Amino acid sequence: MQSFSPANPNMNNNHCDVLIIGGGAAGLSLALRLADDDLNIIVLSKSELTEGSSLYAQGGIAAVLDSDDNFDAHVQDTHVSGAGLCKDSAVRKVIEGAPRAIQWLIDKGVRFTLEDGAEYDGVDSDYHLTREGGHSHRRVIHAKDATGREVETTLEQHVRAQPNVTILENHIAIDLITSQKLNRTDPARCYGAYALDIERNEVKTFASQAVVLSTGGASKAYLYTTNPDTSTGDGIAMAWRAGCRIANMEFVQFHPTCLYHPYAKGSLISEAVRGEGGLLRLPDGERFMDDHHAQAELAPRDIVARAIDYEMKRGGFDSVYLDISHKPKDFILDHFPNIAANCDKYGYDLTSQPVPVVPAAHYTCGGVLTDLQGRTDLKRLYAVGESSCTGLHGANRLASNSLLECLVIAESAADDIRDRLARNSSELPSLPDWDESQVSNPDERIVVSHNWDELRRFMWDYVGIVRTNKRLQRAHNRVQLLQEEIIEYYGNFKVNNDLIELRNLATVAELTIECALTRKESRGLHYTIDYPQTSEFASDTILTPNNFVGHAPIHEWV
Ligand code: FAD
Ligand code: SIN
Repeated sequence: MQSFSPANPNMNNNHCDVLIIGGGAAGLSLALRLADDDLNIIVLSKSELTEGSSLYAQGGIAAVLDSDDNFDAHVQDTHVSGAGLCKDSAVRKVIEGAPRAIQWLIDKGVRFTLEDGAEYDGVDSDYHLTREGGHSHRRVIHAKDATGREVETTLEQHVRAQPNVTILENHIAIDLITSQKLNRTDPARCYGAYALDIERNEVKTFASQAVVLSTGGASKAYLYTTNPDTSTGDGIAMAWRAGCRIANMEFVQFHPTCLYHPYAKGSLISEAVRGEGGLLRLPDGERFMDDHHAQAELAPRDIVARAIDYEMKRGGFDSVYLDISHKPKDFILDHFPNIAANCDKYGYDLTSQPVPVVPAAHYTCGGVLTDLQGRTDLKRLYAVGESSCTGLHGANRLASNSLLECLVIAESAADDIRDRLARNSSELPSLPDWDESQVSNPDERIVVSHNWDELRRFMWDYVGIVRTNKRLQRAHNRVQLLQEEIIEYYGNFKVNNDLIELRNLATVAELTIECALTRKESRGLHYTIDYPQTSEFASDTILTPNNFVGHAPIHEWV
């Protein structure tokens, strides 16, 4: 079995104060928040620095920025969307932190879209706020329809300019290094991580005072997804193997409107298109959302995705249609230039015709259980952003609350890390190097890609928008067989990118299925024909690993 043995001598530890795994909105904003301190920070990214969901975010960031709006309304919308499962302390913290987070981005140079005709005059500019499903007010600040690109590239510029931040691209973290794995008897904590330098094909050892998982979500476990290839749930799987609890994985958010085209590969059409007047139609042109919810096209996302799924199955349609062609052409091109260009690439004119759309896996509401500073069960291990489960999203995330959570929780995690490092920065032990002495080069890499395909297909078929016990059980049997094969493969062959990701995908798939089998009701994104009712009392699904490290001491470092 490749791994490491405590006897293996340490030769090549890379030392730092804070190891941040992931370069999305969560990881980069956290790095930047800490960069002014005299700390040595390493950011790992398994692809180019900014490749990840954040880069592709379209609609924007939800925040109370208008005098007609108020925190209570945003809090209420978040709770309604979350189907009674959101944690009020998380909701209040994130929503009340939103205006400050937006101001911070503006101070960093993010150029949000202005109201029609407004002139840019610095931070006091008059910003355009769009609307998305589940929001009772216009409160989504955005940069046209490419908000993520504007935010990520601005953060990237700043982070790259910091002398105390080392960026290592094409480095994929494999596993966390913990007291337990080192057979140390001291209280359980995280000491660092192993990561494969993909270009050199070499596993490196990172020793760090604190480690942050900001690795994004797990939507790649599904055949059809809006997410880039990076969303393989690595942080969630690593935390689970390290003995941390994982929560609410059954709440997989399917975005209602992805362009339906064989080559479009999960191209999202932002909910803001519906926010600005877009309508959903059946192939014969008839609207249907009024039959499903009073808020029609702007109902919470779980309801719209389920309604589309229902209408497609009822009518035997390949897709439904999204139609904004009743709006002036200039308006559409001004608000949605990138989405219109993408539709055009596949032969659809957003300005003059309805375009075919289908739902696809979009967001992982569950993840590594954390408190509101991003602290996990394991001392010195944090999780921030989509890989975490803070309690903000409950059973269904409200649109545009995700980038917001990345920013607000990254700020408080940075405060906590800074404070604790100042008080308690112990000597790091020498960590053993990765041991590959017992493994060989893989014989048939194709086996790994077959397993990838199989997993993503049965997750789509059996753990999708509408579930049953029988389908979930079928998926459970399949994933356990796959796990056995992967463990055997992992035990005999050297690691590579695909194998690391497949191992993580199988773990997050299993966690998702187990959470789904545990929940004996329908709530938010988890809808099962076997338990269509919603229980009176809402509770989280929390999975505890066999090697659970014990959660009580998460507030103290050693
Ligand atoms: P990501 O941005 O996904 O970043 C994860 C990072 O971790 C990447 O750098 C990746 O390479 C790295 N990584 C992963 N595993 C490893 C590993 N093992 N080793 C090293 N590095 C690793 N939310 C909103 O609020 N508003 C929107 O408008 C919006 N639009 C969206 C549109 C699209 C198309 C998508 C896909 C999502 C959208 N979302 C939106 C959701 C939101 O973008 C994400 O939830 C959020 O960006 C997640 O940020 P993150 O930093 O947690 O993860
Ligand atoms: C979108 O623009 O529709 C995505 C928004 C989100 O995922 O919050």
